[in-house]
Order: sequence, then structure tokens, then C-alpha cells
Amino acid sequence: MFSKLVIFILVSLAAAEDLSFTYNGFRSDDLSLDGIAGVTPNGLLRLTNDTKQNQGHAFYPHPVTFKNSSNGTVFSFSTTFVCAIRSEYAVLSAHGMAFVVAPTRGLPGALSSQYLGLFNETNNGNATNHVFAVEIDTVQSREFHDMNDDHVGIDINGLNSEISAPAGYFASNKTMLVNGQAMKVWVDYNGTEKQIKVSLAPISEGKPNIPLISYMRDLSPILNEAMYVGFSSSTGSILTSHYVLGWSFKMNGKAQELSQLPKLPRIGADKIYKLLTIALPVIFVSIVLVLFLTGVNYAIRKKKFAELLEDWELEYGPQRFKYKELYIATKGFREKELLGKGGFGKVYRGILPSSKIEIAVKRISHDSRQGMKEFVAEIVSNGRLRHRNLVPLLGYCRRKGELLLVYEYMPNGSLDKYLYGQPAITLDWSQRFRVIKGVASGLLYLHEEWDQVVVHRDVKASNVLLDGEWNGRLGDFGLARLYDHGGDPQTTHIAGTLGYLAPEHTRSGRATTSTDVFAFGVFLLEVACGRRPIEAQGSDVSILVDWVFSCWNRGNILVATDRKLGKEFIAEEVELVLKLGLLCSHTEPTARPRMRQVVQYLEGDHTLLPELSLGASATGLAFSHKEGFDDFANGGGYTQSLYVPEPTLLSGGR
Ligand SMILES: Nc1ncnc2c1ncn2[C@@H]1O[C@H](COP(=O)(O)OP(=O)(O)OP(=O)(O)O)[C@@H](O)[C@H]1O
Ligand SMILES: *[C@@H]1O[C@H](CO)[C@@H](O)[C@H](O)[C@H]1NC(C)=O
Ligand SMILES: *[C@@H]1O[C@H](CO)[C@@H](O)[C@H](O)[C@H]1NC(C)=O
Ligand SMILES: *[C@@H]1O[C@H](CO)[C@@H](O)[C@H](O)[C@H]1NC(C)=O
Ligand SMILES: *[C@@H]1O[C@H](CO)[C@@H](O)[C@H](O)[C@H]1NC(C)=O
Ligand SMILES: *[C@@H]1O[C@H](CO)[C@@H](O)[C@H](O)[C@H]1NC(C)=O
Ligand SMILES: *[C@@H]1O[C@H](CO)[C@@H](O)[C@H](O)[C@H]1NC(C)=O
Ligand SMILES: *[C@@H]1O[C@H](CO)[C@@H](O)[C@H](O)[C@H]1NC(C)=O
Ligand SMILES: [Mg+2]
Repeated sequence: MFSKLVIFILVSLAAAEDLSFTYNGFRSDDLSLDGIAGVTPNGLLRLTNDTKQNQGHAFYPHPVTFKNSSNGTVFSFSTTFVCAIRSEYAVLSAHGMAFVVAPTRGLPGALSSQYLGLFNETNNGNATNHVFAVEIDTVQSREFHDMNDDHVGIDINGLNSEISAPAGYFASNKTMLVNGQAMKVWVDYNGTEKQIKVSLAPISEGKPNIPLISYMRDLSPILNEAMYVGFSSSTGSILTSHYVLGWSFKMNGKAQELSQLPKLPRIGADKIYKLLTIALPVIFVSIVLVLFLTGVNYAIRKKKFAELLEDWELEYGPQRFKYKELYIATKGFREKELLGKGGFGKVYRGILPSSKIEIAVKRISHDSRQGMKEFVAEIVSNGRLRHRNLVPLLGYCRRKGELLLVYEYMPNGSLDKYLYGQPAITLDWSQRFRVIKGVASGLLYLHEEWDQVVVHRDVKASNVLLDGEWNGRLGDFGLARLYDHGGDPQTTHIAGTLGYLAPEHTRSGRATTSTDVFAFGVFLLEVACGRRPIEAQGSDVSILVDWVFSCWNRGNILVATDRKLGKEFIAEEVELVLKLGLLCSHTEPTARPRMRQVVQYLEGDHTLLPELSLGASATGLAFSHKEGFDDFANGGGYTQSLYVPEPTLLSGGR
């Protein structure tokens, strides 16, 4: 806190009337203060502070001799001061301040507001007051005939100014609004000429050549011999502070110019301070809240997008998808994106945000980690399988209790939609035959053409997907393994789909290429007949294999052909597919062909297919398809069996 004050008190002992003093800033004991006047730590005289309807006075503490005692004339005097009026509003303030010459230190009985701390309603205008004042009034008080709300006036014994002028200065003919900035005021009285001159200027300007007010008036009758000089100020209903930064006075001479004055508080500093005291806690609380919410959000997101990633998975990096990515791709696994629901979970359509590739994401929930490592290993290795009749597995993602498999999206969906009942679109025979051949070659690839034997375990129409060109593609290979992994055979439930399960698979729980062939056989019949492997017919259950078998048994296997095909099919091909279907779904595993042979039959010479024959066979392999055909079985009373061709014919493959 700097307090710059230079005091010159030159008291001429010989001539006391030549008093002169200069305050470039104040100390509280320099002046006699009353009311709410005070001196700030940095040396500003603050006549009033932000208090309403109050007043303050500050007087030079010693009496000043204004008159020659021998002839009673008021001496010339000169004073200059720098003041500032600060209000809570930019252009409004109340009430005003005045330089005053009064018979007493302080003005007892004076009122605040429009009385400026100078007079009260009883003594206003009374000649016994002996008060001379120069007012800077910022409120237009009509009772005192004020000219405006921003004027300077000379008051003698009362508030009805003898003369007044709008606050301003003539250097540039500008009016100077009392606007909170510091301004200089000069008051000069020439005792010889009996003239009072008042000038105003902004602090940056010098004293104007032409005074704002120039008024002839002999102060001799008004002032006493000994007077006090000082300032008075009052506030009204607007919070206003009146400051005096510096003051100099000289009797019989020119008052010294002021310099190096203390600084005013920054405009609006109080406001800023008030604002800050309110805003800071708010800001702080907001920041804390934002941080907290961000944290919570982060935690939620972190949990939402949490994944399980273990060391052993690191080598599968390329196949690993971020959960967030899949979440975005499927628009948050929206129901709208749901493609279907299967035995393992829901399948969602999505578009990878980075590459814009269309994908199908299968969400598989699993409760145990048991066998997960092997399973993922297998899935990932299966992901390396590439064949035009397999649905490409692009990768996976693992979360707590959940495995997500990412497949290429097959625009035409799964085959089952086109087969059963009255589908919106049916496939014609050539399309079906192409799909069959495709699936056969896909399965052959899994069984024999990849480094290791991959058993599909769940061959069926719903796992055959159709790509954009209506190629049949096998999907979901190896998935069924998730359920028959590890556990002991007693409790392991057999994965696969009812109606596609080979009898020995049900017995042993072991899936083999041969059980795949069985399911493929059922699939062939489905495609040719357009029927489900097991269909409820009233109270009865119709088993497709048995039914086709019975048709064949009755000598017309083509009766089983899908009615939806009409006459638009090649009989030999349909017959081949139906017979091959029966052969593949033979109860006896050894009777089933291998996929290589199946492909040969389908692709090559149709006559290659061994003749299926009815009746007791030499090998005695029974093919019992009794269920659902009681009448047939009982009535016939013979065992249906398939002739199984010599192994040499069928053997091939590996
Ligand atoms: N890659 C894919 N592209 C397009 N649609 C798909 C894809 N994979 C699955 N779907 C759709 O999602 C549905 C559900 O598939 P999902 O494999 O879960 O069930 P499913 O094949 O009927 O039974 P399972 O669980 O035994 O495989 C399918 O019927 C198919 O319409
Ligand atoms: C104004 O001054 C008075 C008296 O000195 C004091 O009590 C009051 O707190 C001050 N108000 C402000 C706003 O500074
Ligand atoms: C006061 O007036 C008398 C008579 O006019 C004069 O002699 C004297 O010098 C004056 N004193 C001062 C201090 O001017
Ligand atoms: C009083 O004295 C002053 C200075 O001494 C002089 O200028 C002035 O004219 C005198 N006044 C009267 C009324 O004599
Ligand atoms: C007005 O002021 C005078 C002194 O200046 C005082 O004697 C008087 O009592 C005051 N009147 C009222 C009504 O306050
Ligand atoms: C002026 O004040 C004096 C003393 O206070 C009083 O005697 C006188 O009546 C007042 N004059 C007027 C006009 O009020
Ligand atoms: C100020 O105004 C006066 C009268 O209106 C005029 O004579 C004078 O030239 C003006 N001065 C400036 C600097 O504009
Ligand atoms: C007062 O006016 C007279 C005449 O104009 C002049 O000589 C004198 O210097 C002035 N006095 C002061 C203190 O300015
Ligand atoms: Mg499936």
C-alpha cells in the first residue's frame, strides 16, 4: 500500500494570511473528518462510500484567515483539487460534493441527499450561515432550481446556486460528464477584482484558459475573518462514492499544481469483487460438478465399453474388435438393427465406423470362462478359413459374460427364410441346386481341405446364408463347440439342432464329420422338399427323412419335391438331391458318404450315385425310419434298409 503524501505547510509567522498547503494524497490525521468520510490505505480521501443517504466532511484542521482584520476585505485565494465520483451505475450517481468555506469544522445539523451535507431545510439560504461553496451536483433538485443532473454551481449560504454551469470545460467545448473518472477543479477568488472563477478539466488536461464559471461577487460580507476550508459530500438513494485524490490551497497566490496522486480503485472493481464473491463459488462448484460428472460419465462409459482382454489373446490382436467400435457400428445394439435370434444369442447388423464394412455381430452370452480360451483360439483360427462358401468371420470381442463374433454381412439372409411355408420369395431349382453345391463345397473345405479337420456341428438351413449373388455360404462353424467343451460326457448337453442330429451323435455326444454329413443330408431334403426337418402335423410329428424315405419306398421319390417349385425343375437333379439326402442321413454312420464324394455326386456324373435299394441288404445295415410312419412300418412288417454300396465306391477323401 503506497501512500504518497507531500505536505507543504508554509506558515508564514509574519503573515499568517499567506497560508498554503498541498496534499498529493492524504493521511487520516491530515484532515478533520466527520460523517462517513475516511482515508483509504492508499491515500484517497473518501468522503462517502457505498452507503445510501449519508454524508461526510473533511476539513483542513486549522482555521484560515480570510480577511485583513484592519480593513475587512477578503484576500485573494486559490485552490485546486482532483476528485472523482463513482457510482454503481455508469451515468447516474447521487448526490454530489462541494468545496466549502465554512465558519466551523464540519457542518453540524446539515442533511444528506440534495442538501449535500451543507445545510438543512431551516438554515438553507440564511445569511447567518456564512458559507461559501462550489458544488458539483449530479442530481437535479428542482426545489433548488438546479439546471440539470450534472452541473457545477456557486452556493452562498444556500443551495440555490448563485450561478451554475453544466459540468464541462471550454478547451474543446465538451461537456464533461461526471463519469467516475478523476477530474480537476480550480476555484480562484481575486480579492481585488472580487471575482470567483471555477474551472473543470479531465485529469489529463491542463487548466482551461476560459473558466467554466466566472462570477463577480465580493465575498467580504459572507466570509468571517477566520474560516475553515474543506469538502462536503452526501449520498442519496444510489450507491455512490466521492473521492478526493489531492488538494492544494493558497492564500494570496496561486495554488500549487498537484502531481503523483494516489490511484483510484479500478472502475467496477467493487462490482467485480462482488461478482467474484458470488461467481467464484458458483464457478468452483460448477467445475467440481463438471469434473464429477465427467468422472462418472467416464466410469459409466468405461464400464459400458469394458472388455475382457487376457494375455493369451494378445496374439489375436488383428481379429480383436473394440467393443466400442461394435457398439457404434450397431448403433448401440438397437432393436432396429436386430437381424435375428438363434440358439446362441442375437445377431445385429452394423457398419464398422472406420472401414464402413457391413457386418453382422453375434452376441453370445456365456456364464463360464471354462473352455473359453480353447474356444476363442478355435474361433480365431476358424477366422482364417477362407472359402467362397463360408461366411467370413472377421473377428471377435470378449466382455464379461459375453462373446461377440463379427461376421461379414450377408445381404440376403439365411436360407430358411426362403424355404418353409409360404415365403415371400422362393428360390427356383437352379438357385437351390447352386446353393446346395456351394454348401457342399464349403463343408468339404472344412472337413478335408483345411490344415485340420473342422467339424461344423450345426449344419442346417438357418446357418446357410445367402450373399449378394445368392451363393450359399455356411456360417456358424464350430460354434456349437462352445457348449460341448470340456465338461464330462454325462452332463454335456449335445449342441446342434433337433432334426439334424445323427443318432450316434445323440448317443455318444461326439460330433464328427460324419454327423455333419448326416445334418447335410437333412439339409438336402429340406431344400428339395421345402419343409422343416421336423414338422408338427396336428398331434403327429412328421420327420422329413422318414417321409422322403417312405416316398422313395413307394417308388416315387419325386412326390417329395417342393410344390412351390411347380414343374420348373430338373427331375434328375431333384432325384439326385433327394436320394443323396437320404444316403447322407443314413442312421448308420459308415453308410454315409464323405463330403468329397457328395461333392463328386453333385458336381459330376449323376449316375455315380450308388443305387439306393430297398429290402434286406447283404450287409444287413438297418435304416429304421419308423417314427411317424407307424402304418407303413407295421403294415409292411419289414425293416427298411438302404443298400449300402461297396466301400470302394464311396471311399475317397482321405
Ligand atoms: N452374417 C450374417 N449376415 C446376415 N444375417 C445374418 C448373419 N448371421 C446371422 N444372420 C441372421 O441372424 C439370424 C440369427 O442367426 P443365428 O445364427 O443366431 O441363429 P440360427 O442360425 O437360427 O441358430 P443357431 O444359433 O443354431 O445358429 C439368422 O437367421 C440370419 O437371418
Ligand atoms: C462506509 O463507511 C462506513 C463508515 O466508515 C463503514 O461503516 C461502512 O462499512 C463503509 N461501507 C462500505 C461499503 O465501505
Ligand atoms: C490590511 O489593510 C491595511 C489598511 O488598508 C493595510 O495597511 C495592510 O497592509 C493590510 N494588510 C495585509 C496583510 O494586506
Ligand atoms: C484593504 O487592503 C487591501 C490590501 O492591503 C487593499 O487592496 C484594499 O483595497 C483595502 N480595502 C479597503 C476597503 O480599503
Ligand atoms: C440546521 O442547522 C443548524 C446549524 O447549522 C442547527 O442549529 C439547526 O438545529 C438545524 N436544523 C435542523 C432542523 O436540523
Ligand atoms: C436565520 O438564522 C438565524 C439564527 O439561526 C435566525 O434567527 C433567523 O430567524 C433566520 N432567518 C431566517 C429568514 O430564517
Ligand atoms: C467553443 O464555443 C464557443 C462559443 O460557443 C466558440 O466561440 C468557440 O470557438 C468554441 N471553441 C472550440 C474549441 O470549439
Ligand atoms: C487580481 O486582479 C488584478 C487585476 O486584474 C490583478 O492585477 C491581480 O494580479 C489579480 N490577483 C490574483 C491573485 O490573481
Ligand atoms: Mg446361425
